Amino acid sequence: VFDSGVGGLTVLQELLVELPHEDFIYLGDTARFPYGERSAGELERFSLEITELLLARRAKLLVVACNAASSAALDRLRERMLSTTLGVEVLGVIEPESRIAAERSRNRRIGLLATTATVASGAYDRAVGAYARRHARRASPARTSRRSSSRAFPFDHRVVETVRATATPLREADVDTVILGCTHYPLVAPMLQRMLGPESALISSGRAGGLGRRSLTRAELGNPDESERAYRFLCTGDVEAFRALGSRFLQLPIEEIEHVELPSAVAA
Ligand code: DGL
Repeated sequence: VFDSGVGGLTVLQELLVELPHEDFIYLGDTARFPYGERSAGELERFSLEITELLLARRAKLLVVACNAASSAALDRLRERMLSTTLGVEVLGVIEPESRIAAERSRNRRIGLLATTATVASGAYDRAVGAYARRHARRASPARTSRRSSSRAFPFDHRVVETVRATATPLREADVDTVILGCTHYPLVAPMLQRMLGPESALISSGRAGGLGRRSLTRAELGNPDESERAYRFLCTGDVEAFRALGSRFLQLPIEEIEHVELPSAVAA
């Protein structure tokens, strides 16, 4: 599992529940955080570097927890995987969120909250559109896109005002479903839900659920051993900063963290 930083731990958290009998290795590219303002080319390059590292550590399934990386690099990563004999499947967060949003929306108005890179890629528009057509019923592609800061922690008045400014156009656009298209937004979900009202559905990537299990079952790669397995961490930046912030996102203890260097991070 990889992300630009600690935000993807909200996705890992769900995977740990879904697949307790698997070992997990999570890489946070904290030295190059944030990804949300990066170009598509950079995101693709970073994602490929991380993928090589995780393959070298014998990953059997790759989950791109970062929305920005998913929006820019998923096709390229799948191509790369097809060229290996390992049969590693690549899962991103955009397709499952879009499917759930398209199925959930009743009034065909879906809001998207995401970083600049993700919004600019148009990946959610394409995915929501495709699922909406496939279901041949409600939901048009997301139209209310807002850029939002990924550095808005800890919670204070400024965060509340930022979330309120984000909620206002969504309410005005009468969306009934909002895609949280960035790994950090689950942390402000209660605040946003309160501002949008209880009827609005918030769709986050962590809840995309079931995908990892289905992939492993299909590939017959699930671990038959029923014991609870380990999870560990790699990061490209400061290890103690990762531990301190990461445990708030994961809500589980973070013990083993290894500092790693990636080729272009070193060059930079
Ligand atoms: N992980 C990024 C994403 O989901 C958000 C944080 C960042 O900008 O790196 O898009």
